[in-house]
Parts: sequence; C-alpha cells; structure tokens
Amino acid sequence: MGANDMATPPDGSKERIRMMKPTLSTTVAAAALLTFGVSAPGAAASDDPIDAVAFVDQFEATAGKYEGYRRSGAKGICATGEFVGTAEARGLSTASVFSGEPIPVIVRFSVGGARPDAPDNVRGQRNMALQFDLPNRERWQMGNISSPIFGASTPRQLFELLVSRQPDPETGVADPERIRAFNEANPEALRQGAYLASQPVPASYGSVNYWGVNGYGFVNSDGVVQYGKWVFEPTAGVKGLTDDEAKTKGPDFLFDELRQRVAEEGVAFDFNLKLAELGDNVDDATVPLPEGRDKVTLGTLKITSVAEDAAGACLTLTFNPMIMPEGIKPSADPMLAARAAPYAISLSRRLTEGAKQ
Ligand code: HEM
Repeated sequence: MGANDMATPPDGSKERIRMMKPTLSTTVAAAALLTFGVSAPGAAASDDPIDAVAFVDQFEATAGKYEGYRRSGAKGICATGEFVGTAEARGLSTASVFSGEPIPVIVRFSVGGARPDAPDNVRGQRNMALQFDLPNRERWQMGNISSPIFGASTPRQLFELLVSRQPDPETGVADPERIRAFNEANPEALRQGAYLASQPVPASYGSVNYWGVNGYGFVNSDGVVQYGKWVFEPTAGVKGLTDDEAKTKGPDFLFDELRQRVAEEGVAFDFNLKLAELGDNVDDATVPLPEGRDKVTLGTLKITSVAEDAAGACLTLTFNPMIMPEGIKPSADPMLAARAAPYAISLSRRLTEGAKQ
C-alpha cells in the first residue's frame, strides 16, 4: 500500500493528469506540471524541515501542555460512521473506499486547540477526523477542519507562527511586537483566523462544513490523476448560532447535541471534491481553489453512533494525512509529510502520560 506507488502508472509512462472535466483528460509531463504550478507527483518532504520533537514542544509552549490529551484538537468525541462511494468517484479513483459497498469509518469531532476545556460556544475551529477501514487492510486517515484554508503554507511558517504567539512564562502574555512582526511578514497566515472569526458558532458538529485544505490526487484505472481539494458538507445544511443563542448553550453542549441529533434525525455529510484545473495551486493550504471549479460528490458519510465518553476507538489513534489507499496520492504540499512525525510524537506523549481522550 502506498500513495507514492501511484505516482507512476503501471506501464511506466509519464503521469497523466486529468485537468478539466472528469470526462476530459490531458497528458502532461511532470516538468510541465511544475511550470504550471500544478502538483508534482508524490508528497514533498519539506526542504526546510522542523524537528518533530521541537514542533510538539512548541505546540506545548504556545498552547499549553495538558497531559494525556492531544496537543491539538484536545477536546473531542469519538463516533462511528458508514461511507458509501458514488459511481462518479469510481470514475476518478480506483480506491476501494469508493466501491459503493458500505465502508466502516471511525470519526473524531473536536474543537480546535490544545485545551481539553475549550468552550463549545465561541467562534473558532471545529474538526472532523476520519479513518476509513478498507478491505485488504488498507486505511485512509484524514483530519478536516471547519475552514477552507489553513494558517500556514509550510511547516516553518506554522512553527514561526507558534513561536510568535508563545506567552512569556513570567507574564503569561505573548510579545505584541513579535506578533506584529510575524503578521506583517506573513499576511497569508492570517486568512484562516479571519475566516473563522467571520463565521457563527456552529449549532452542531453535524451542521458545519469540514475542509481537507490540502490537495490530493485521485488516480483512476487508466492512471489519470485528477487533483483536487475536498469538503464534507452536512446533508441537512450548515447551521450557526446567533451570539445570544451561543451564550445560552454554555461551554459544553456539542457532545450531547451530537448524540441527540444522531439518534433523532441522523447526521450525514456529502464528501465533495472540487476539481483543480490547469494552473491551479493545489500545494498550498492557505490558498483555496478558485470559485466556480467543478465539484463531484464522491460519496456520503453517515454518522451511526457516538461514544458514551471521550475515549472509545479514537483514544490510541492518530489521524495521519499520509495514510491513504491505492488510488489516492498526496499533492506536493509540504504540510502533508510534515504532519506524520509530530502526530506520532503527540500520540506517544499522551499515551505515556495516560491517555484521557
Ligand atoms: C506541520 C503542520 C502540522 C502539525 C505539526 C500539526 C500537529 C498536530 C498535532 C500534534 C496533533 C495531535 C495529534 C494526536 O495527538 O493525535 C494534530 C491534530 C490535528 N490536526 Fe494538525 N498539524 C499540522 C497541520 C494540520 C493541518 C494543515 C490540518 C488541516 C486539515 C490539521 C488538522 C488537524 C486535526 C483535524 C487534528 C485533530 C485530529 C484528531 O481528532 O485526532 N493539522 N495536529
């Protein structure tokens, strides 16, 4: 199994890229792809890597260290789901996840950040992480966030962002001058925060969009690769709370609300892929695909149960975006490969400390 195995079609010919419509394919050499800013084959290791231990140390220094908890997305709830892929998806990718048979999924919903007591009733990031358990012992893991863009395009930029926000141990407050300097030098890093601040508090974990933000390639049986970025959209629609409603809900309503919603009306998401066209940048999570790109529904994810507490199957899992089935391949976005090791370090720390979530 492996994403990189898919970079070259079995016949050894150059990778072909489906650029426009699902029905239209174009043959483009890898060099041309680079020229046009389309993803080069295979996940890129960053040319400016951050040591994984130093990265997780910096998460703790900036956001706080909460033993037993994930260093990001700490307050969460585990759920199970079932995914059924569409015929359109099978046209784009050979991945077994799209067979049309029901695929079991482990789901973890969370509030962004390191605080296990993060309030549910304030604006900000919500997450939906997924593990699809596929035939032949393949798995697909992904972390999706309630913003179409991420706050860093490279591991270095994320690291520097965290450094700029690190509170002084004496005062507990970050240096405003360091924050200002970072913001001035990295305007694209502020877009995610601006987006989240513009959105209402989600009424439910089941009523907000979750974007993948990083680009991936979908490889079909002819070896044609369609790059794109995905979003999970609630079938019942997006719903936010007014500020007054959010206040009334209190800081801990999302877990019970999800249990109730799943039991009473059901929660489901369409898994939609926005298709990249020639010249689109799929290698930078701070840049969304342009408006008006074709969107294909790859399948529907239905949430089938919600764990009684915060543990369950998610406790010892991490959602590593480099674990994917045959038929899916990473873009050259350096943030993808950069996530694998820090996730493992965070997992190792929280398990050793005594996993609580
Ligand atoms: C180099 C970049 C990144 C680093 C170092 C990083 C680091 C981390 C760490 C340490 C965790 C906790 C892992 C665990 O204990 O299981 C985590 C969780 C998470 N990250 Fe990242 N992250 C990065 C980029 C991203 C990006 C671009 C996204 C956008 C999709 C993302 C989405 C998530 C989500 C949704 C979770 C929670 C997953 C769960 O519920 O277990 N991360 N991240």
